[in-house]
Amino acid sequence: MPEMDTVDLETDLSLFKYDDLEQLPPAYRDLDESDRTRRIEAARAELGEEVVVLGHNYQRREIVEHADFIGDSYQLSKRAAEADADYVVFCGVTFMAESADIITDDDQTVVLPSMEASCPMAGMAEALQVDAAWAELTAAADDADVVPITYMNSYADLKAFCAEQGGLVCTSSNAHEAFEYAFERGDKVLFLPDKHLGYNTAHRLDMAGATAEWDPWDSEAADAEGVADADIVLWDGYCQVHERFTEAHVEQFREAHPDGNVIVHPECRREVVEAADVAGSTSTICETVEEADPGETWAIGTEIHLTNHLQRWHPDVDVVPLCGGACMDCNAMRQVDPNYLTWVLEALADGTERNVVEVPPREKELAELALQRMLEV
Ligand code: 13P
Ligand code: SF4
Repeated sequence: MPEMDTVDLETDLSLFKYDDLEQLPPAYRDLDESDRTRRIEAARAELGEEVVVLGHNYQRREIVEHADFIGDSYQLSKRAAEADADYVVFCGVTFMAESADIITDDDQTVVLPSMEASCPMAGMAEALQVDAAWAELTAAADDADVVPITYMNSYADLKAFCAEQGGLVCTSSNAHEAFEYAFERGDKVLFLPDKHLGYNTAHRLDMAGATAEWDPWDSEAADAEGVADADIVLWDGYCQVHERFTEAHVEQFREAHPDGNVIVHPECRREVVEAADVAGSTSTICETVEEADPGETWAIGTEIHLTNHLQRWHPDVDVVPLCGGACMDCNAMRQVDPNYLTWVLEALADGTERNVVEVPPREKELAELALQRMLEV
């Protein structure tokens, strides 16, 4: 494994990583939609090509309607890097804005309208906590070389930690290739933070029987013996939005729509993925509905805003939320309120940068290395 300098990972186990958090001023709290739209458009007209607005697929309609590009986290970061704009306003969550900052040029500034948009799953594997568990975990693995892989849905300091340990980043569409890359270089994989994506990937590689879970909240209960025997160790994190789907939801849908199809995100539990017709990343879900024939019925197992957008964007396809009214929106994504978008855009038009996400230089360099390794898989 390549020798690397150690890095001082300055972080704490807090929900909000950016302490220069600015709250929405009272004057922006109750804007009505038509006034807000006019003000957003006016600020955008003044800024012209200086700004690009990116909207993640899980954002609400009033946000994506103002976005220059709509997509999944990785597609949007690439759009940010390709754009010439000085300012990238990223309507998504903190880890996405960090990734955009990592891959954009140094003279581009990334703004996250609400710093409270912090993904709970990313918070389940803070770098400080992983660093502390690493010694125990590698000791439990005897002399085996453990290669850490972190899902894109993690903070930059964890991506940096993985790079430092010879590991890499993956998305939900290339996780299996990242595992193969890791097994060419080490004996075991530690996958963070999403145990479901990790387990679904282990299945895809016919390695489900060689997994063990590591509970970061109770290392005494963590299965040290299991770790010694396992090839894949799964950090016990999960996404509350995707964990909500159950096999019963799939059965109920099939009873009501015998000719319907089911597609779910691989952050869903294994039994849900097995019961579905297709499991795929956010972009696979979008492409599948886009390519469906008119009249086809698709149940979608992912964040509810995306399901609603797909319904609006493809009215000739019958798009159904997999768990009906019980489907969830993402609490973190919801923090990006359109009033915040108005506020940050008007501030930029006035020459003031608000809620800038800037990854510290050393962390950025290492996180970029972890992302580059992903591009090699
Ligand atoms: P992607 O945009 O990478 O699909 O991930 C978004 C997400 O938060 C999935 O829960
Ligand atoms: Fe995080 Fe889940 Fe929300 Fe995605 S949907 S941002 S993984 S909490």
